[in-house]
Amino acid sequence: MQFQHEKDKILIIDFGSQVTKLIARRVRELGVYSEIITPKDLNKIKNYQNIKGFILSGGPSTVTKKKFESVPKRIFNENIPILGICYGLQLIAKIFGGKIKPSRKRREFGRAHLFKKKSSLLIKKFVKSNTSVWMSHEDAVVKLPKNFSTIASTKYSNLTIIENSKKKIYGVQFHPEVTHTDNGKKIFENFLFLICKIKKRWKISSQKNRLIEEIKNTVGNQKVICALSGGVDSSVAALLINKAIKKNLICIMVDTGLMRKNEFSYTYNLFKKKYNLNVKLINASKIFLKKLKKVSNPEKKRKIIGSLFIKVFEEESKKYKGINYLAQGTLYPDIIESRSSTGSKTSKIKSHHNVGGLPKKMKLKLLEPLKEFFKDEVRILGKSLGLVEKINFKHPFPGPGLGIRIVGDITPERLRILKEADFIYINELINKGLYSKIWQAYAALLPIKTVGVMGDSRTYENICLLRAVTSEDGMSADYFNFPKNFLDSISNKIINNVKGINRVVYDITSKPPSTIELE
Ligand code: XMP
Repeated sequence: MQFQHEKDKILIIDFGSQVTKLIARRVRELGVYSEIITPKDLNKIKNYQNIKGFILSGGPSTVTKKKFESVPKRIFNENIPILGICYGLQLIAKIFGGKIKPSRKRREFGRAHLFKKKSSLLIKKFVKSNTSVWMSHEDAVVKLPKNFSTIASTKYSNLTIIENSKKKIYGVQFHPEVTHTDNGKKIFENFLFLICKIKKRWKISSQKNRLIEEIKNTVGNQKVICALSGGVDSSVAALLINKAIKKNLICIMVDTGLMRKNEFSYTYNLFKKKYNLNVKLINASKIFLKKLKKVSNPEKKRKIIGSLFIKVFEEESKKYKGINYLAQGTLYPDIIESRSSTGSKTSKIKSHHNVGGLPKKMKLKLLEPLKEFFKDEVRILGKSLGLVEKINFKHPFPGPGLGIRIVGDITPERLRILKEADFIYINELINKGLYSKIWQAYAALLPIKTVGVMGDSRTYENICLLRAVTSEDGMSADYFNFPKNFLDSISNKIINNVKGINRVVYDITSKPPSTIELE
């Protein structure tokens, strides 16, 4: 088990749903510590002492086949409350003798109206006259297992919420963890506090001192190297480690030339002067631009930037003697995603490069102090470490940087144009109080020339694309609904101030079907 320090916890058994990590988030948002583990990990746990509840996630498996993913029967006999979600519900039904059928007729995707059949602790103050829940299933429970009763139904699935209150086993066919379910948090609140009777004890800000002590104990007098990008994750990791080991932390900033305007100098000065960290700045922009010359294929660009970054970082780190650890800002979702519960490989859309994904062959031990946390939790830690808001609440920025925001070839001139436009856009969002309402915003350059007119002259210049999305974790996203006057003024500002752009467009696609970045 990873996080031995937490006494009372909720264990989430991951059957491979895309949204399992949202379950952990919901539980933690309610002040309760939770961990996600695979069914295999669950088999290895001998002592259930600190486990106050199990949540069985959804997943792609089906209990209608001969072989299906399951859990040890023991968990049902320990008087520990259990909540099954989607596949989790079907599994419970199967184990207790219910009937599950795959059926085109019964399949439900999207919102469904919920009808209450009976009162239950699980749905206390949850169901209103117009409660809709988010469904995503093909199989459905068609016969109740023995000693279970029906709590609620939808039009197409009779057994949407079931319970065996004596054994404290509950199942919901819908996904209370996604925001599309009205008031879904209430289901977790009821499960945690009315059924599991667990105490609210998890507070991220109180983890800071424990983490610093752990780093001190692990690292001792040895040296740690860290790639600092100026994003939230690497910044919080660096501040934490610095609190523990001071000058034995060496931070390296590799300037690829693909960062936003002024960003690198700002971050460098901040960490060196305000936080007094041992930071070394490497200007590698020339070599990055040289290697990217005439490369327009998105995947090729990503590969070049990723491997060159590693090369430059490795070469620099060789200059320091006696380094034992490589620090990375790995987060909890990265850990969950890299360990598939089902063994299935989801199809690769883009090869992500992250300054966190550093070289394996460096033979350094990894130091990943944020690996237990979600991004919003890291921001709370950042605040308690005194990290400036500008970095702590910065939108996510991809490892390959502006390299994947210039469609086609990357040239110094295109970079100049994009940096100027992006700078104006982001500052305007901040000045108009919109930045914090948006999950991620950026400008991109479409190097397609179109005709315009400025004054009495014809122009023939590039298109600037503006993107702004709301999202919870970047896996899906909606475009942000700007007021018209903002769009009017930003278009004017960019065209009047950036030579090389004569047309501004706003991207109104969601993810899916688009992705957040263009490449
Ligand atoms: P997409 O474009 O896949 O992006 O919808 C989802 C989120 O991931 C970020 N992104 C990256 N982050 N290295 C990163 O660290 C990458 O290579 C990378 N590519 C995309 C993107 O900015 C968005 O927040």
